[in-house]
Amino acid sequence: MITVLFAAPSLWPEYTEALPAALTGAGLSARIVTETTDPASVDYIVYAPSAPLQDFTPYSGTKAVLSLWAGVERIVGNATLTQPLCRMVDPALTEGMVEWVTGHALRHHLGMDRHIVNPDHIWDPTCPPLARERPVAMLGMGALGSACAAALRAINFPVTGWSRTPKAGCLHGEAGLETVLKDAQIVVTLLPKTPDTENLLRASTLALLPRGAVILNPGRGALIDDADLLAALNSGQVGHATLDVFRSEPLPKDHPFWSHPNVTVTPHIAADTRPASAARVIAENIRRGEAGEPFLHLVDRSRGY
Ligand SMILES: NC(=O)c1ccc[n+]([C@@H]2O[C@H](COP(=O)([O-])OP(=O)(O)OC[C@H]3O[C@@H](n4cnc5c(N)ncnc54)[C@H](OP(=O)(O)O)[C@@H]3O)[C@@H](O)[C@H]2O)c1
Repeated sequence: MITVLFAAPSLWPEYTEALPAALTGAGLSARIVTETTDPASVDYIVYAPSAPLQDFTPYSGTKAVLSLWAGVERIVGNATLTQPLCRMVDPALTEGMVEWVTGHALRHHLGMDRHIVNPDHIWDPTCPPLARERPVAMLGMGALGSACAAALRAINFPVTGWSRTPKAGCLHGEAGLETVLKDAQIVVTLLPKTPDTENLLRASTLALLPRGAVILNPGRGALIDDADLLAALNSGQVGHATLDVFRSEPLPKDHPFWSHPNVTVTPHIAADTRPASAARVIAENIRRGEAGEPFLHLVDRSRGY
């Protein structure tokens, strides 16, 4: 029987049924514990950033650490973690992100706000352009970015992707970023937080955008320089920013994003890990570990995601 340490006690109530069911469904016989006095006996650790566990050294027999979160910036540099680290790629989480990105892109594309809040009852029959006339930049074309790009393309938005490595239909590198931003009326940031992506959107890159472009950031707060974004919003260079993630969360009550008329704050809800499907992803990785098969969604520590 294998031992699974569920190291995120605050999340355990959501997984008490889902994780045992998923492990059984994967044909595994497992003992799940939420704490242990015998760390060397733990085969797998289920981890979330809220987990008190920070020192992985005593877990000498652990075959993998399985993150419940897609973003792993808070654990990837942990020097005590020498075991394989897998991140969460959950179909339901992806579905949630597709809905958030599509919904917010359509809000701005259709100019919904001026019809929803119209206290002076102004009859303005200006029609929005078609989606096919509204270029979108998808910064990050991984599990989430590529799914969001596909959904936006399905309703005719011309989406140009940008990633770290070359791939079909996608730009990369500094020159690629310049090209993708110069055209984009909507920019979606779905990059991980790494030393290379921090402050990717700053004064110099925001200046490349067509005036009035909209930014949707469900990636990580650190991808954008807050002060530069506020300056670009104040000058009209950026028309609106819809932000789900922040350098400090919850976003402090006195942060200027809350009161800026052209900023929408959503409280890190773009895409939640859903226990039922996430438990199946965890169980599949444990099954693979036990069968000697390669783990899914393995994090490359050297690149940081
Ligand atoms: N707001 C929320 O609720 C929420 C929920 C889940 C995740 N997230 C965030 O979304 C992020 C993306 O998730 P994912 O599952 O799509 O990650 P992923 O599959 O690892 O994809 C990351 C993408 O970013 C690209 N990238 C990484 N570093 C880059 C760089 N320096 N320059 C250009 N492109 C770079 C990668 O390029 P390559 O393809 O070339 O490797 C890849 O296309 C997560 O890291 C997390 O921060 C937010």
